[in-house]
Amino acid sequence: MEDQHIPASLFDCPVVESRPVGSYRLISFVAREVAALARPGQFLMVRAAGQSLDPLLPRPIGVHELESDLVKILIEPVGRGTISLAGLRVGDRLSVLGPLGNGFDLNGEGPALVVGGGIGAAPLAFLARALSQRGREVRCLLGFKIRGQAVAAELFRNQKIDVYTEDGSMGGMGLISEPLPGILAEMQAGGPENAISAAGDSSDGAIPADDGETGVAGYHRAAEIFACGPDAMLAALSGIAGDHGAKAQVSMAAHMACGVGACQGCVIRTVDGYRRACSEGPVFAAGEIAW
Ligand SMILES: Cc1cc2nc3c(=O)[nH]c(=O)nc-3n(C[C@H](O)[C@H](O)[C@H](O)COP(=O)(O)OP(=O)(O)OC[C@H]3O[C@@H](n4cnc5c(N)ncnc54)[C@H](O)[C@@H]3O)c2cc1C
Ligand code: FES
Repeated sequence: MEDQHIPASLFDCPVVESRPVGSYRLISFVAREVAALARPGQFLMVRAAGQSLDPLLPRPIGVHELESDLVKILIEPVGRGTISLAGLRVGDRLSVLGPLGNGFDLNGEGPALVVGGGIGAAPLAFLARALSQRGREVRCLLGFKIRGQAVAAELFRNQKIDVYTEDGSMGGMGLISEPLPGILAEMQAGGPENAISAAGDSSDGAIPADDGETGVAGYHRAAEIFACGPDAMLAALSGIAGDHGAKAQVSMAAHMACGVGACQGCVIRTVDGYRRACSEGPVFAAGEIAW
């Protein structure tokens, strides 16, 4: 995961777009410095600016996308903080601390499988775009409870996407842990063109397979998973990644008060003890988490 070297700052930002995306709300605001610095997987501590002190504390919200000087966030209104954010309209102002956290490590090679669950898909559009821009083959697997949430898949522009809903109202029906092993195996199996690549260079991470399980042409490419979603989804994904020998980075959800490592309110249990999701995460290697 990438280290954060630049101290975050507090900004007062005008909202220039606020529109529903199914049951979520997409909000765009002007924040030149944040847009210049933010990396995929980083987050912001955000609250509606103004007289009201309710809620007092900002909420952690992932950077959904960047566009020139604009920062976009996608909000699922579930409690006081997010309901207040979803109520923002053009001309309102946001108080923004960030960018915060480590973000995903984009330095790997080979095909990338981007996996999102529910509002956890929000920061992954930026990630998928950044991975594509680095020349990685990218496939997205997004799971939601219902169609009203799944329409957010439209925000993943120009990406190869598989969508699943628990009630089958959009895309495939079921949890993403069901198609995940098959998609991973498909991505890791090399076709003839990959075999040539494997022989000539390792730019897509292809290596000769030694067990024949991965099939076509006897080649195996090490896929890397990037995921954000509910803990249960990430735990299942971690097991599946391990079974397939795939590396996985997971962005962990935590309730946060300060967002900068001071209050210890966001700790996550890892195999090396407790770590702060805000300053040492939110992205961890799946193998680091004590599931
Ligand atoms: C790095 C990061 C990025 C995020 N990105 C986004 C994003 O892009 N968009 C988005 O909409 N959300 C995002 N979230 C989630 C959001 O910050 C939380 O859901 C936040 O708690 C919402 O605040 P709230 O006041 O609206 O709701 P809350 O009052 O905090 O309640 C939200 C949910 O959490 C439950 N809850 C409340 N307190 C606790 C507790 N102490 N322990 C366990 N459960 C509790 C509630 O029952 C409810 O279901 C992100 C979280 C993190 C850590
Ligand atoms: S939110 Fe305070 S230490 Fe992480």
